[in-house]
Amino acid sequence: MENNHPMPKEKGIDHTIQLLKEGYHFIMNRKEKFDSRVFETHLLGEKAICLVGKEEAELFYDETKFTRKDAAPSRVKKTLFGEGGVQGLDDAPHHHRKAMFMSLMTEEKLQQLKQLTKEEWEKEFRQIQDENIVVYEKAKSVLTRVAMKWVEIPVEDTEADKWSDELADMFEKAASIGPKHWKSRYSRSKMEEWMEDWIEKVRSGKVSISESAPLYQFSFHKDLDGELLDKQIVAVELLNLLRPIVAIAVYIDLLMLAMHDNKDEVAQMNIDDEKQVTNFIQEVRRFYPFFPFAGARVKETFTWNGYVFEEGTLTLLDLYGTNHDPAIWENPNQFQPSRFHDWSRSPFDFIPQGGGEYLIGHRCAGEWITVDILKTTIKFFVQQLAFTYPKQKFEYDNNDIPPLPKCEIRLRA
Ligand code: HEM
Repeated sequence: MENNHPMPKEKGIDHTIQLLKEGYHFIMNRKEKFDSRVFETHLLGEKAICLVGKEEAELFYDETKFTRKDAAPSRVKKTLFGEGGVQGLDDAPHHHRKAMFMSLMTEEKLQQLKQLTKEEWEKEFRQIQDENIVVYEKAKSVLTRVAMKWVEIPVEDTEADKWSDELADMFEKAASIGPKHWKSRYSRSKMEEWMEDWIEKVRSGKVSISESAPLYQFSFHKDLDGELLDKQIVAVELLNLLRPIVAIAVYIDLLMLAMHDNKDEVAQMNIDDEKQVTNFIQEVRRFYPFFPFAGARVKETFTWNGYVFEEGTLTLLDLYGTNHDPAIWENPNQFQPSRFHDWSRSPFDFIPQGGGEYLIGHRCAGEWITVDILKTTIKFFVQQLAFTYPKQKFEYDNNDIPPLPKCEIRLRA
């Protein structure tokens, strides 16, 4: 029988303000203070267990121990995730819905995505000559068109472009309060309505699209009881494709920052060498923050390493901290793409987009999409564009979610 011992516990009523102040370092700071990878704190008015590290990630992704039901705060569901989507499902219903997403990640669809990304970047820069451009804004337009085309929503570019701000509102303002939060909610409901119209048109045969189109596949997906999904849920799931594809603009901005700050690495990189390009992109995803943590609730009370996890307790896994854990990464705060040469490929140590398995876990469905879009983008910028960095401050804030470089990286192209 294991000896139980009390979990280190942070004193005080609530630490949400400290979380906002310390941002991506909140959990790691306390891991140091308590000398423990498991501790208890209070956030948003409730008890929360925080975890960081590889073994801890393995525990967090054990679906016999944790549930996603009611794990996300209502304000996040109303903006970022939407209600009734895959993020909040468990067990068989989750596996079934997740399979709908993963069935799109074929070699053919990923190849199409790379081609679309290349074409849309080319189109975006066709008219530009010797101008200063804001990378993030360009990336959002490019990726909105890529996303619409990849999901096969039959709209012209001008119509697709119109939705760029709404798609971005859902992730840019999800962590905000006040008017920005309301703007994010408004953008979501406007987009859900627009998607629902498309779903109706596809279901009724008013528009004819290929059966392999993601829009078609999701519109006719049946749940475990053999029923079509409610069209509001299909809209949420289609936005679970469109929104995060546009959010890759944040990584593109950070990629341009990384290329500026690591000029020697870039100069040495052979852009035709797949492995070297992949390593650079992986290091961008490891080094820079994006999602601070993933959240779940304890399914039934259990004991792990002597600590009691009580049923219903909110539990947060530190994604950023695990990607900077010195027990896993040598010199974690240095940007070193070569570390990925001999990376052991555990599903629990490199987790910028969540850990564990894709099909029977909550790991990000779009991880391959993200890497492919970033690889295509770096190749386009290096091989097809002559650009320089005009004078600007190259900084980003470690507390902002998403962590956009403050100045928004500008290029002269
Ligand atoms: C911008 C880059 C991206 C980041 C940083 C990111 C990050 C994440 C994270 C942290 C999770 C949650 C993991 C967990 O709950 O344990 C997640 C889940 C998810 N992501 Fe991404 N993601 C990105 C891009 C994408 C793309 C491009 C797509 C789809 C095209 C996508 C679709 C999803 C879906 C559907 C889930 C829910 C998976 C589930 O609950 O089973 N993501 N992502």
